This record gives sequence, structure tokens and C-alpha cells, in this order.
Amino acid sequence: MKAIVYKRYGPPDVLELMEVEKPTPKDNEVLIEIHATTVTSGDWRARSLNVPTGFGLISRLILGVSRPRQPILGTELAGEVESVGKDVRRFNIGDQVFAYSGAGMGCYAEYKCMPEDGSVALKPTNLTYDEAAALSFGGTKALHFFRKANLQKGEKVLVNGASGGVGTAAVQLAKHFGADVTGVCSTANVQLVESLDATHVIDYTKEDFTQNGETYDVIVDTVGTAPFSRSRGSLKEGGRLLLVSGGLPDMLRTPWVSMTSSKKVIHGVAPGRAEELDFLAKLAEAGEFRPVIGRRYPFEQIVEAHRYVDTGHKRGNVVMTLTT
Ligand SMILES: NC(=O)c1ccc[n+]([C@@H]2O[C@H](COP(=O)([O-])OP(=O)(O)OC[C@H]3O[C@@H](n4cnc5c(N)ncnc54)[C@H](OP(=O)(O)O)[C@@H]3O)[C@@H](O)[C@H]2O)c1
Repeated sequence: MKAIVYKRYGPPDVLELMEVEKPTPKDNEVLIEIHATTVTSGDWRARSLNVPTGFGLISRLILGVSRPRQPILGTELAGEVESVGKDVRRFNIGDQVFAYSGAGMGCYAEYKCMPEDGSVALKPTNLTYDEAAALSFGGTKALHFFRKANLQKGEKVLVNGASGGVGTAAVQLAKHFGADVTGVCSTANVQLVESLDATHVIDYTKEDFTQNGETYDVIVDTVGTAPFSRSRGSLKEGGRLLLVSGGLPDMLRTPWVSMTSSKKVIHGVAPGRAEELDFLAKLAEAGEFRPVIGRRYPFEQIVEAHRYVDTGHKRGNVVMTLTT
């Protein structure tokens, strides 16, 4: 089968399209023929090792010290079940599914095996394969953090980086949970964030949300530009800062914040669980959540797709389509 492989860390050019062996499902696995996958900020970080301050060594230990342990990137897919192992009960041949492989990666390929009790779910019938492929990365991250923050109906939420993969999902999920949502983005993305039904949109090129006197119950920082030192004054008493993207020094300060104030900083890795995929699929089916696709590329244009994501200014999600 065709796959996109990287054998060393570096710029987008390290990605090569090549033939590799097609996987065979184990007894508890499904083999999925992939119709669409995505290029996420996670793929960019794993390819380049450009990671937040303090995470260089940890990242190498996880991904491979001198070269990538898993040579096939890609954490999201949508496709069709081609065959199943003998113990599989949840899925049948021909089922249309989407999946999140997380740190196991391997979705930049024509086929991928997933355990049936892993993060695999039936594709919502009202979404295309392209949309379903983009359902889980941003969606599971935003959902994980809102649950950790115990987000309540009527609370005021600010999403910094509202136009990105995690941000577009966070705006939609916060609205679903009944929050009053403010999105922060650049001029070019104001309309997009308004279209997601954000109550207020702040253009960061014209206004600094930390200086406008407004306060929030929850601030979600998906960019890394709103650490506690900068956003503390914008948090209400009892407010929570969700550091989706943050450096190690900011994270190490979090116990001190809790000890010395009523405010809380929440950080960590969002795993992307099967139950979260089911939750997102139901929301999508009910018309309350729809992944934003900013750009599509054919599989063969992976280098161009990564170059775009490397800018740090992608809109929503970047999908790669496979034609078989
Ligand atoms: N904790 C976890 O488990 C976890 C999981 C996944 C991802 N992450 C991290 O979360 C971060 C966000 O991921 P993502 O996939 O959403 O990234 P992304 O899609 O690449 O984010 C790009 C967006 O960021 C916006 N942006 C850039 N600079 C900005 C600024 N100064 N202020 C406001 N918005 C700005 C851009 O909008 P403009 O073009 O308008 O500037 C663009 O739409 C990444 O750092 C990623 O590593 C963490």
C-alpha cells in the first residue's frame, strides 16, 4: 500500500510517499481502507520536534530519540472497514467509520488497523469522509479540557486561537454546553468565528483581550500566548485557565496558582478516547458540531500541506484525501 513515511525529524521535505506492507488485522482488530486523513498541529510537532518550551527531551523519549519510532504520521482517519479479525463484534465489513490513533499514529496510509475497542466509531451519516476525518483531533482536545474544567451552562468562555483546529471545536462545544463564548482570532478569520456562533469575536490585531477590562470564567489558550502571568486579570474569581498549549515552566507553576488564589490552571495531554468519539459523532449527527475544513490536499501533496500547517495560521482543519 501507499504511505507517507518520515525517517528523520525536520522540515516538510522529510515526508516521502512510498510503498509499504499492507497491515493484517489481529483477531480483535478492524482493517480500515482510508478515504481521508488530516494534517494537524500534532503531526507538525512530531515531524519537526518543534515543541513547547521544556518538552524537547520528553518528546524525543516518546517519539524516538534519534529518529522517529513510528515512521507514519497522521492521527485521524475516515474510511471503510475492509476486513475484521475473528473476535470483532462491534464492526462489520463495509461499515463507514472514523478513528483517532493518537500517539500510535499511522493514518498517512491507504490502510490502518485499529483495535475494535480503540478510538473508532461509526461515521455520522450526515458528514462526508473529509469532515469525519477532522472530527476527533480538535474535538476530543476541547471536550477533554471543558470536562476537566467542569464547564457550566451560562459561564463566560474565551477561546484564544478560535480559528484553529482545537479553537473551532472549542467554540462549537462551549456553545453546545450553553456558554457565552468569545473567540479571539485575526481579522481574516473574524467571519469564520462569527459563523460558528461565537457571541463576541475579538480581533487580536486590534485589541488585546487581557487589557479590555472583561473577565471570564474559563479561558482556553490554544496558542500559547495567554499563560497565567498574562491572563490572570481576565479570569473571574474561581476562574479556570485551560492551557491546551503551554510551556513546561507555565505548567510547573500551576500548584502555586491554586495555593495562592481562587483561580486554577488546567493542563495536560488529552488522550482522545472512544467514548469522546461517540459523543462527538452524536453531536455531529444532531447538527450541533461540524468540523471546519480550511483546506484540502490530495495525498500526494503532503509536503505542501505540511508547509501550510507549519505557518501556524491554518484555518480549522487540513484534510488529505486519498483516491483508491
Ligand atoms: N494538550 C494537548 O493534549 C494538545 C493536543 C492537541 C494540540 N495541542 C496544542 O494545541 C495547540 C493548538 O492546536 P491546533 O491544532 O488548534 O493548532 P492550529 O490549528 O495550527 O492553530 C492555528 C490557529 O492559531 C491561530 N493563531 C495564531 N497566532 C495567534 C494569536 N497570536 N492569537 C490568536 N490566534 C492565533 C491562527 O489564527 P490566525 O491565522 O487568525 O492568527 C490559526 O487559525 C498546538 O500548540 C498544539 O500543539 C495540545
